[in-house]
Amino acid sequence: MIDVHQIESRSFSLLSYLLVDQETGACLMIDPPRDIKKRVNLDEITLESVINSHLHPDHTLGNAAVSSQAPILAHPGERSFFLRTLNSLLSMLFTLRLPPRISFTLTQGSTVMLGNTCLEVLHTPGHSPGSICLYWEGNLISGDTVFVEGVGRTDIPGGSSLKLKNSIERILLLPPDTMVWPGHSYGTRYSAPLSEITPMLRWVLTVL
Ligand SMILES: [Fe+2]
Repeated sequence: MIDVHQIESRSFSLLSYLLVDQETGACLMIDPPRDIKKRVNLDEITLESVINSHLHPDHTLGNAAVSSQAPILAHPGERSFFLRTLNSLLSMLFTLRLPPRISFTLTQGSTVMLGNTCLEVLHTPGHSPGSICLYWEGNLISGDTVFVEGVGRTDIPGGSSLKLKNSIERILLLPPDTMVWPGHSYGTRYSAPLSEITPMLRWVLTVL
């Protein structure tokens, strides 16, 4: 069984996640915020891996703070010159360090074990070429692919409305009671069952 700890940041309205396996205490972090060291006592947790749902800088500014503790993983679709340059510039500006090394090893169907739970990687391009979601036992970490209030923008270089549409259609095939944990909240809700956001997603499909 995995506990989901949602970490809310005021900057960018970012939602990061610390997943903790109840049995072993093993932890996995998703999209660490820049001030992660103030939010989580990293010395007290066993961090096995860090996953970036995608490499837009708001989701990677905490990488430098956690890179000595665990490998940072992402999808190879995020290996673009544009994203690498943007990440280097922002990392230098905010952390005074070059961004740490990322292993681009997560692809569609990859699995990440956390304790006895198998987390499955869903490649959901559209917001960016290598955007991913993580799915396990009735939960979906949805990054910037879908939010409670809407979907990820597609007007950043590498974005694609057509691909986002396909990704949303695939998410809609998941069980309706899947709890969706998004990468941002722009309203008052920070997670919701897929069934509750399905009408909004179906509407989005008609306009994308
Ligand atoms: Fe993004």
